[in-house]
Amino acid sequence: MDKVVIITGANSGIGKAAAYRFAEEGYRVVMACRNLEKSKNVQQEIIEATNNPQIDLLQLDISSIVSIHQFHSSVKETYPKLDILIHNAAFLNHGNKNYQLSGDGIELSFATNVVGPFLLTKLLADQLANSDDARILHACTTNIRHFFDPKRKIEFDNLQGEFEDNRPYSTYKMYGDSKMALVMLTFKLAEELKDRHISVNAIQISAIKLSKETIQKMESGWKVAARVQNLFSAPQETMADTYFHLCTSNEFKGITGKLINAKRTIMQPSHYPDTPREQMKQFFDQTVYPKYAASERNMELVWELCSKLTAVEV
Ligand SMILES: NC(=O)c1ccc[n+]([C@@H]2O[C@H](COP(=O)([O-])OP(=O)(O)OC[C@H]3O[C@@H](n4cnc5c(N)ncnc54)[C@H](OP(=O)(O)O)[C@@H]3O)[C@@H](O)[C@H]2O)c1
Repeated sequence: MDKVVIITGANSGIGKAAAYRFAEEGYRVVMACRNLEKSKNVQQEIIEATNNPQIDLLQLDISSIVSIHQFHSSVKETYPKLDILIHNAAFLNHGNKNYQLSGDGIELSFATNVVGPFLLTKLLADQLANSDDARILHACTTNIRHFFDPKRKIEFDNLQGEFEDNRPYSTYKMYGDSKMALVMLTFKLAEELKDRHISVNAIQISAIKLSKETIQKMESGWKVAARVQNLFSAPQETMADTYFHLCTSNEFKGITGKLINAKRTIMQPSHYPDTPREQMKQFFDQTVYPKYAASERNMELVWELCSKLTAVEV
């Protein structure tokens, strides 16, 4: 097998389960992780459990522009062809009440969940174009369903600390904003990369068991809630299987620019209905997503923002 997959945040949770899944299938797996010390043990564990020695570990802090460029330099030298890029890493610190900026001065959820993936994809496009079936997958969330409410908008004006001190901050809301922007980026990148035969899709993830490491980082009240939620959540391997299916199956070959739900159904944009009853029904309908994501204007805004913040030519 000469197929190469890069998975960001492959040291825990769904990313780790996905690294296992691809390793079992004989893929060459590049674990793109920010903490090498912690991740080395996971790399070793996967090599031993799957008998696949082709599990590489490279340092990447996806919230840092310098780190992304360094990662790209190493990847370019070692892997002239890439087949799959999974943007799995994300920032969400449950219970955190403080607005946080990345080292580049970008709100941390946006830096990690949108701007970093944008830059990394742009930089790796040449190597991806060398594959005959290149696929990119973005990890999205059901949190974006709050955008069915037409009052909900992305806080585009507060992504570089503008209202850091005088606007209420919710890490959960900013996470939702960033994941909505990631869906828009999916649609826009799919158009941009179509001629190079690189497909770009997003998976809408609902409740998957949170890793011990993630729960450990939470405030105490959230830890309890997360442990309770874990009782009702699907195992990480379920989502790893879905990542694998979307990135390798014939069913999804050539499909691009789509948001796909956990049952592997392509979702459609939907208007906000008039009646509370219909609105409630829509909220639980996993085959639709908020029309807000499909607006060309919003897609352009996300694209311009990412281009400006990373100073990549468009
Ligand atoms: N679990 C769910 O129920 C759920 C629901 C909806 C969506 N999702 C999405 O699914 C994906 C995986 O979630 P998960 O629950 O498996 O998360 P997780 O266990 O918390 O893992 C997140 C991974 O991202 C890495 N990461 C965070 N910031 C990073 C950065 N700046 N650079 C590089 N790596 C970074 C973490 O590395 P460290 O170990 O170094 O922190 C960790 O490996 C995320 O995109 C999440 O938003 C999950």
